[in-house]
Order: sequence, then structure tokens, then C-alpha cells
Amino acid sequence: MSIRGSTRVLGVFGDPVAHSLSPAMHTRFAEESGEDSVYVPFHVLPENLETALHALPSLGIRGVNITVPHKESTFRLVSEHTDAARAMGAVNTVIVDGERLIGDNTDGAGFAADLEAHFDHTGWGKGPVVVLGAGGAARAVVHALTVAGVPEVVVANRTLETGQALIGQLAPETGRAVALPSEELQNALPRARLLVNTTSVGLKGETFPGLSLDALPREAGVYDLIYNPARTPLLQEAEQQGLAVANGLGMLVRQGAISYARWTGKEPRVEPVIEWLEGQLG
Ligand code: ATR
Repeated sequence: MSIRGSTRVLGVFGDPVAHSLSPAMHTRFAEESGEDSVYVPFHVLPENLETALHALPSLGIRGVNITVPHKESTFRLVSEHTDAARAMGAVNTVIVDGERLIGDNTDGAGFAADLEAHFDHTGWGKGPVVVLGAGGAARAVVHALTVAGVPEVVVANRTLETGQALIGQLAPETGRAVALPSEELQNALPRARLLVNTTSVGLKGETFPGLSLDALPREAGVYDLIYNPARTPLLQEAEQQGLAVANGLGMLVRQGAISYARWTGKEPRVEPVIEWLEGQLG
């Protein structure tokens, strides 16, 4: 890939940013779609975020992704928001349109697209869907489920009040919150079409105490947002029971592809990039 005078500049703001998979992923998107773009990691400290964002139009940068710890502060600093960003109170994608900075959030759309790719046969759209966790990632998931019209969402969280607050904001009509673990959670499983883990439980091989997947129907799916390791104990248990499973690598790549499309007007093919990243992660 060579950089020319006309090359479109994209990037990611984060602190730290060196570990980010986004530059490699977006470089693949440019190759896949034949676009003349380059994607740069910018190590932006919190005290410099406002200056960095406001410099985007004058530098002619078409857009940036926003990662930890800047997603909420960027929400407060941009001039406009999409509905998804507003629902999440967090921005993962900034689109530069002339002097305007538009804050978007593509995590939920990436999740929904990945559900369609993996779990069509489970009828997840008819619900109920059980979501473990009530943090930032759970907000994206619950928002996506609500946009998709899922009629029943159960959020199970260690801190019940956080789950209740999330339901109150994002799914007051269709959602309810239960404690994790609890009998109520276990009782919700026999009717569930999909179980989604949004917590960090499983990153280091941990299991959920008091959660038994035996209760899920045979046609249910289990989705874990964790993609490294590729199979958490939760996904291993689900696989052993013959349930359909998917990890969050597809969500990661699809949210990136949706951002890329917002900036360039071209949605790249995601399958080769997912496969390539699977190989990188081992
Ligand atoms: P993210 O942005 O990745 O969602 P977060 O906003 O810190 O991260 O949210 C983490 C979620 O995982 C929270 O819902 C947290 O539960 P609490 O609200 O009780 O803190 C949940 N979580 C993290 N570690 C957990 C654990 N060991 N057991 C159960 N839930 C856990």
C-alpha cells in the first residue's frame, strides 16, 4: 500500500492505543474494498482529547474510531449524535462532515449483524434473550436487541441496581433485570432463544457460579463477546451441549466495517478479515 497526496486519512484515538487491532483491521478493509485510505493509531491523552477532536476538520481527516478511555468524553465533545450514540451515551466512531463532528456508535449494529450471520435458525428475534452484565458492552447489546424488535430481554447482573437502571433507560417496556446469579436467572433459561455474555468473566478461564446451561432449549444460541480466548468456558460448555455458539470477533470486525462504510461509503467484505484475525489470534 502506498500513500499518495489524495489518500484519505482515518484513525483511532485511544490511551493506550498500541494494542489496538483496529489499524490492522482497517488496513485489510482498504485492501478488500480497493479504497485509497490509511488508518493511523493516535495516542491521545485525556487532557488532549478536545484539542485532537477539534483538529480533525482542519487536518482533513475523514473520521476516527474512539476507544478506551475516551468513548464517554467524546460523546460530550462532538456537535451531533446519532440515535445509537445517544442510546449508549458513548461514541466509538466520529464522522467529520465539513466543520461538523458527528458522534456515532456502531457496536450495537455490529452485534446485530453478527447475530444474523450466526444464529438465524435460533429465532433470536422472537426472544426472550438473556444478557449477562450491564456495563458499556451490555448497553450496545440491549440497544441492538431493542432496535431489532426483540419482545423480551432479561438483563442479569451482579449488581442488580445497575441492571435495573440499564433496563429503565433502554428497554423499559420489554426488559427486566435479575441478579447474577439467582434462581430468577436460572428460571429464565428454559424459554430463552439466546444467551449473551457481555462481562469479562471467562477472559481468564473463569466460570459463572450458579449458572447451568442444561436449562437452555436445544435450539438456543450462546454468544460471548470475548474473542480471546476464542472459546471461554461458557462457550465450551454450550458447545458440549450441542448449542450454536459464536464469539465476539465477528462483532468486532462488523462494527469496524460499519464505521468504515460511514467514512468511505463502501462496506467491505468482513469474512476474509474475520478469518485473518482468527489466524492472528491463534
Ligand atoms: P464493558 O464496557 O466491557 O461492558 P464495564 O462497563 O466495566 O465493561 O461492565 C462490566 C460488566 O461486567 C458489569 O455489568 C459488571 O458487573 P457489575 O455491574 O456488578 O460491576 C460485570 N462483571 C465484571 N466482572 C464480573 C464478575 N466477576 N462476575 C459477574 N459480573 C461481572
